[in-house]
Formats: sequence, C-alpha cells, structure tokens
Amino acid sequence: MIIAIDGPAGSGKSSVAKMIAHRLGFQHIDTGAMYRAVAWKGQQTGIDLSDPDAVARMAEATDIELIPGGGGQRILVDGQDVTAQLKTEAVGRGAATVASQARVREILVAKQRDIGKNGGVVMDGRDIGTVVFPGADKKFFLDADPRERGRRRFEELKVSNPEVDLESIIDQVRERDFEDKNRAVSPLKQAADAIRLDTTHLAIEDVVEKILRLCEPS
Ligand code: DC
Repeated sequence: MIIAIDGPAGSGKSSVAKMIAHRLGFQHIDTGAMYRAVAWKGQQTGIDLSDPDAVARMAEATDIELIPGGGGQRILVDGQDVTAQLKTEAVGRGAATVASQARVREILVAKQRDIGKNGGVVMDGRDIGTVVFPGADKKFFLDADPRERGRRRFEELKVSNPEVDLESIIDQVRERDFEDKNRAVSPLKQAADAIRLDTTHLAIEDVVEKILRLCEPS
C-alpha cells in the first residue's frame, strides 16, 4: 500500500506521515528532505543554485540515503548524516529554488518511485499524489490557514532561536506558498482524487486518527 500525503509548508504533513507510518509499520519518506539535501550540498560546495545545469549535474552525482529509524527518518548525503543541518531556513529557501528545476525533479522523482515501488510507504511532499504516485492507494491533501502554519513553524524555530519573529515567519510561509503553487513544473496542487483535511483547528493526533480510519479496508 502507498499512502500519499501532500500539502503546503506547516500543514502538519510530515509529522502526520511519520506517526501514520509508525502505527502501520510502514516506512516514512519525507521527500522535502531530498530537495533540501540537494540544496544543502550545493550550498556547501558553492554551486550557484539558480543554475539548473550545474544543480542537475551535482544532483546526479549525489548519493542521498533515507534511513528509517525510531527517532524518525535520517538523511545521509554521500554517507554524511545531515539530518539536523537540513532544517534551517536557508536550506529551505535553497530547496524551493532547486525544486523549481525540471531536471532535479526528474532525478528525485525517479529515486522516490524506486524507494516506494514495493509499497508499505507513507510518502509526503507536494506532488506525491499528482506526479510521483498518481495511482497511490490513498491520497490526502493537508492544508491549514497560513497564520496557523506560520505559528507552528515559529514554535519549532523558537526552540533554537529565541529572537525569531512571528510575523516575519508568517510572511515567509506565504512566500513559500506562492513559490510552490506558481512554479512551472509540478506546482503544489491537490490531486482530484485526494481527500482534503483542514488541520487549522485539529491536533496532530486527531488528523492521524482520521487518516487511519480512512485507510481501513472498506
Ligand atoms: O516540505 P519542505 O519544506 O521540507 O520542502 C522543501 C522544499 O521542497 C519546498 O519548497 C517544497 C519543495 N518540495 C517539492 O517541490 N516537492 C516535494 N515532493 C517535496 C518538497
């Protein structure tokens, strides 16, 4: 079984996907981390992320491994564990740039299809139900009010940076939405057959229970 969970930043999709995978004994694949891995390597090696040819050459030559584990998915880039480094806002911005490039998407989508081909996966991202696995058994699209998504991101960032400002995080969330929804290749959009869940007023646990109920065999 393949469960696809898409949605904008801060909709709760990664946390929900991780908990669902745990409950079902499936592997959780956070595809956003793969775009972040490409951006991180480009930033480390001084590649111009706005040069699609250079980024594609680098992505082709990069080994990205997703290691499932009790504490969550870990990401190795060319053998180095970079899980923590991928969470920064700078890497997130770089990821939005490389995610708008067709060749990078082809390379990462091929990896995602390969990882998911035997099923038993909960994959989250922006284009899982529309492009990566349009035939997924279950598709969900999580959304929430941008202010609430900004607040969630603010709570996460505040832990490591007490100076962080709520209004500027909400602005960043709106900017990221605009980029993700308006790029030419695989823009963020709900698959016609996905179930939409608005998580603005829901706790993560409630979203998980709803999805698990919807995944039960009928
Ligand atoms: O979910 P995230 O913030 O880790 O995603 C990082 C960037 O990658 C974000 O700009 C959206 C993009 N992305 C994508 O285009 N397709 C995916 N399947 C996953 C993420």
